[in-house]
Amino acid sequence: MADSTIKKLNRLKSEIRRHERLYYIENSPEISDAQFDALMRELIEIEREHPELVTSDSPSQRIGGEPATEFATVIHNPNAPMLSLENSYNMDDLDKFHERVTKNLAGEQVEYTTEQKIDGLGVSLVYSDGVFVQGSTRGDGVTGEDVTANLKTIRTLPLKVDQADGLDRFEVRGEVYMPRDALERINAKRSGEALPLFANPRNCAAGSLRLLDSRITASRPLEIMIYTLIVTDRAGTPINHPLAKTHYDSAKLLDDLGFSTPDVRLCNGIEEVRRVIVEYETKRSQLKYDIDGLVVKVNSLRQQAELGSTSKFPRWAIAYKYPAQQAVTKILDIRAQVGRTGAITPVAILEPVEVSGSTVSRATLHNEDEIARKDIRIGDTVFIERCGDVIPKVVKVVESKRTGREKIFQMPSSCPSCGARIYRPEGEAVARCVGVACGAQIREKLRHFTSRNAMDIDNLGPALIDQLVSSGLVRDFADIYYLDGSKLAGLERMAEKSAENVINAIESSKTRPLSRLVFALGIRHVGARAAVLLAQNFNSMDALMNSRVEQIEKIHELGPSVAASVVNFFSQESSRDIIARLKKAGVNMTEQTAPVDKALQGKQFVITGTLKSMTRAQVKDRIESLGGRVTSAVTKKTDYVVVGAEPGSKAAKAEELDITTLDEEQLGKILDGL
Ligand code: IVH
Repeated sequence: MADSTIKKLNRLKSEIRRHERLYYIENSPEISDAQFDALMRELIEIEREHPELVTSDSPSQRIGGEPATEFATVIHNPNAPMLSLENSYNMDDLDKFHERVTKNLAGEQVEYTTEQKIDGLGVSLVYSDGVFVQGSTRGDGVTGEDVTANLKTIRTLPLKVDQADGLDRFEVRGEVYMPRDALERINAKRSGEALPLFANPRNCAAGSLRLLDSRITASRPLEIMIYTLIVTDRAGTPINHPLAKTHYDSAKLLDDLGFSTPDVRLCNGIEEVRRVIVEYETKRSQLKYDIDGLVVKVNSLRQQAELGSTSKFPRWAIAYKYPAQQAVTKILDIRAQVGRTGAITPVAILEPVEVSGSTVSRATLHNEDEIARKDIRIGDTVFIERCGDVIPKVVKVVESKRTGREKIFQMPSSCPSCGARIYRPEGEAVARCVGVACGAQIREKLRHFTSRNAMDIDNLGPALIDQLVSSGLVRDFADIYYLDGSKLAGLERMAEKSAENVINAIESSKTRPLSRLVFALGIRHVGARAAVLLAQNFNSMDALMNSRVEQIEKIHELGPSVAASVVNFFSQESSRDIIARLKKAGVNMTEQTAPVDKALQGKQFVITGTLKSMTRAQVKDRIESLGGRVTSAVTKKTDYVVVGAEPGSKAAKAEELDITTLDEEQLGKILDGL
């Protein structure tokens, strides 16, 4: 092996690592995404030619590997089991903790630290000679599962750190979590694919970290925050490190090594601890991730060692838990709600109650098994909880409030909307309505079809859809395109002018690109991204309709479930009939193959505020068709910020970063190529 290849490879790896750190940890990238991708491609190319040179800490290892059949068991360091934390819920508990600490330290002065208690999943990572070698879940604290491959996909986790004195071998512990906005994106995508949603960021993080296929984990934007450093000798015995005599200093050291750490504050005395607790009470809702409290730790590691631990908790730390965003209310009724795939979800109708600033009157009960497991009955008094911005859920029943008059919920055997049979396949949690002409399913399907990211028919909202379905004017997607002014005029409360607007909106939706139409059809497992890939690969509806499973599976990023679902969808007579009628009505069935030299190639746009002449989705389509991209956050990489009426903070951010802003008129000119 030529030495020069090895040198080049090592240079590339450290260059990529440096840029990963700049981008993911320090938030100040020096190169563009495209330049970064080019470096990565170069690395992968060399590694493909020389597979013997692939090391486990290579940045190429983040993309995930072959699925595992099960996780191996990892025994945590027997000298330092992964303990849990004692909880406290008020300042009295905190005072008692402080009293105990000072008493056990014979009245010595005590410094504390506070830091966020991140609501995620505890993990341990072992580094040997600077290289991340093994990562595991906390499990029961003594043994956990080996999730090294999945952990490697987390961009904020350094696969290699700079060698430092006395740090030949160390272990760090931290929390893997899913930022709230990432969960929203994942759930929006899953909803488009008719997959069950994650109830909160924590479940999503746990589910993603424990996937056997690390390639799927790689697609979930997990993050990690490190809060403990344990330096050991080669045999694994914990040793002291001169740069880490206190918790605060070890957090600094972790920071310097390139780990993300929580906001660790040094507090001189318990009074200062209280102040941080009060500060975070309001601050926590502004964070990008969920925290369920603060962790208060004794700062000196010498004092920590003196205080020691019980079999469950360290005596030198306590979690201060903020009151959960929970409330108590009564279940007035339980109704079965029909989704667009026919899935029946039981929903609790609640006596309205306020939870963290908004009124809640419904909560999801997920499915029959969940109701049985929690023994939830109509008339019960229950605790409900809101996690992040997700749909509220019922946590548990207040049994002491039972009167004996509560009613057990029976899942209906026929659909509440169309009366067809409800069928629950053996071994599945979800029951479904089998009705092909089910009004509720049709309404939900149409809502999806007309929604913003699908065909974007602005004036055809949920209320009008309900009217169109119940009057029998619309039974499927194609019927929308056969509506005319006179049919609409027959509907209640439909003025002539609004009928005209509806017809115009329907008319202009006919030119949407094929990818939008494919997404709008609501084929199972086909979300917005899959729809774009399908449209770009097949270019026309005819080609897609006649495609075979193998052809779809070959498309990078698409797998067998998408392929099977697409082929199955188009094999149905009813689907083919709808497509034929859509085509006849003049709905576009092709994906534009854009001109090679596109005017906005590589340009990044951010839109803020309301635009008058176009919807955001329309602007996005236009920009993309010219080779540009629309992103949500203003960063140094943004080229233009489009400012509409009542803009948000993004306009100010643009000014701060000195980025060109465009008003609607200027944007129009650019899009029209003037
Ligand atoms: S220290 C022995 N610090 O909370 C002390 N834990 O409820 C070990 N957690 O198992 C934990 N954020 O998974 C610590 N800043 C933080 C934390 C944190 C979240 C988790 C951790 C622990 C659990 C206990």
